[in-house]
Amino acid sequence: MKADVTPTLSYFKDHVFVCQNERPAGHERGCCHSKGATKLRNYMKVRAKEMGLPQTRINTAGCLDRCELGPVMVIYPQGVWYRFETMADIDEILQRHLVDGEIVERLRLSDLPAGLDQEAVGRA
Ligand code: FES
Repeated sequence: MKADVTPTLSYFKDHVFVCQNERPAGHERGCCHSKGATKLRNYMKVRAKEMGLPQTRINTAGCLDRCELGPVMVIYPQGVWYRFETMADIDEILQRHLVDGEIVERLRLSDLPAGLDQEAVGRA
């Protein structure tokens, strides 16, 4: 018998997972931590609290396996992936995605399944 996995109300309205994975310098895949992800995730948490987004949870994540594109985050329940580099990027994701309910296309990553997003890697 299969479990019923029909979506129901979510505990959080939005659940953000920000990769914080750290690898040794020179690793062939790199890591989000070395590209500023930890500082920017901390900034995002502070700003989300200041903006009063109690139904939004911003969590640290381990490697999300899109290392070459990093730093990366994914926001559920929409399953939208973003690459971010600056505090301005974080501000835009907070305001437009989490407050206004829009997708920030200029920061969005491909939704192609793993292994099929090589075009996206070339743009990073
Ligand atoms: S190190 Fe961030 S996705 Fe792998």
